[in-house]
Amino acid sequence: MELLEQIKSANISIAEGSTSWSSPSNIAMIKYWGKYSGQLPANPSMSFTLDHCKTETRVDFRKGNGNGVSLEFLFEGKANAAFEQRILKYLNSISTVLPMLEKLHLSISSSNSFPHSSGIASSASSMSALALNLVSIFNELAEEKLEQNEFLQFASFLARLASGSACRSIYGGFTVWGESDYFYGSSDLYAVPINSEYISPIFNDLCDDVLIIEKGAKKVSSSAGHELMHDHPFAANRFDLAKSRMGEIREMMSLGDIEGFGKLIEKEALMLHGMMMTSDPYYILMKPNTLSVIEKIWEFRREKNIPVFFTLDAGANVHVIYPSEHTKVVSEYIRENLLVYCENASYLCDRMGTGPKNLNA
Ligand code: DP6
Repeated sequence: MELLEQIKSANISIAEGSTSWSSPSNIAMIKYWGKYSGQLPANPSMSFTLDHCKTETRVDFRKGNGNGVSLEFLFEGKANAAFEQRILKYLNSISTVLPMLEKLHLSISSSNSFPHSSGIASSASSMSALALNLVSIFNELAEEKLEQNEFLQFASFLARLASGSACRSIYGGFTVWGESDYFYGSSDLYAVPINSEYISPIFNDLCDDVLIIEKGAKKVSSSAGHELMHDHPFAANRFDLAKSRMGEIREMMSLGDIEGFGKLIEKEALMLHGMMMTSDPYYILMKPNTLSVIEKIWEFRREKNIPVFFTLDAGANVHVIYPSEHTKVVSEYIRENLLVYCENASYLCDRMGTGPKNLNA
C-alpha cells in the first residue's frame, strides 16, 4: 500500500488536542471465519453496518514521556486494566506503521450504546472507533493531511489489525473485506463500501433485530475459533464456497432477489456454526432457544410469506433480518412469540446505518 509509506515518513509536529468518534457494529452476511498471520482473511466477507449499536470513543492526546506508547483507558467511565492491556499491545503493534504513537500519551475513554453484557460483539464498533481517532490525530499532527478516501482506507486498515470484522465498520451500508473477483477494488488489507447504486433498493434499508438468547461473554472467543480453521477438515471447501457465494450474493442484490439473499445468509450462519461443531476441539455456541427461534422464524415466513430471515454471529443470539417495510408486523411477531426464548425478554432493534460519525466535526 503506497499510502503506508507516505504515513510512515510523514512530518509530524507533536501538540496536544482531542478527537472523538462514534462507530457502529456490523453484521456479516457472508462470514469471515479463518485468518492468516497479519490479520489477513482466509476468505472475503460482506456485512452491513448497523445504526444504533455503537461505541463512542474520545482520545485526548499530548506529548508523551519519550519512552514509547503510553496510555490510560477508561471504559464507561471506569479504569479497565484488561482492555487497557489489549489496547496497549495493539498500539505497540501498529507503531511501525504509525510512528507518531511512540511520541504521544493517549487518554482514551470509551462507552457502548448497548449493554456490555448483552452478548453483542463490541470489538467491531470499539476498534473501528479507536482506529478513526488515531487517523484523526495523525491528520491533526501531520504536515501533509490525508484526504477523505485515504483517511477512511487507512482507518479501515488500522481497524483490521485490531479486529478483522472492525475494518468493515468504517463505512455505512454494505461493505466487503477481502479480495474478491466479484467486487472491484476489494482488498485483504481493508474493507471497501459497496456503491448502493448497484444494489436493488429493497436491500438498502434492512432491519436487524437482535434477540438476546444469552447474555454475557461467549465461552469460546472468535480468535480461538479462527485459529481452529487452520487444521479444519472442511477449511478448503469452506473458503472456496465463501468466495463463490460473494458472486451469488452480488447477483441477488443487484436483481432484488430477497428470497435468494435471505436463504444464502441463513446457509452462511449455519455453516459458520457447522465449522465450530466440526473443529477439533469441537464446540457449540447455539443454545436450544437459538434453534427454537430459528424454527419460529421459518414458520412465520412460511405462514405470512414475509421475507424475514436470520443470521448468527459467533454466539447464541439470533439476528432477525428483514426489509424495513415489514417492521410493524415483524416487531409484533417478535414481541408476542419470540421474547419467551430471550434472556429476560431482551432484544435490540437495529437497522442499516450510514457509518461512523466524527463527533468533533
Ligand atoms: C463470526 O472480527 O471478532 O463475527 O479478527 O479475531 O478480532 P478477530 O475476529 P472477529 O471475528 C468475527 C467473526 C464473525 C463473522 C464476521 O463478522 O464476519
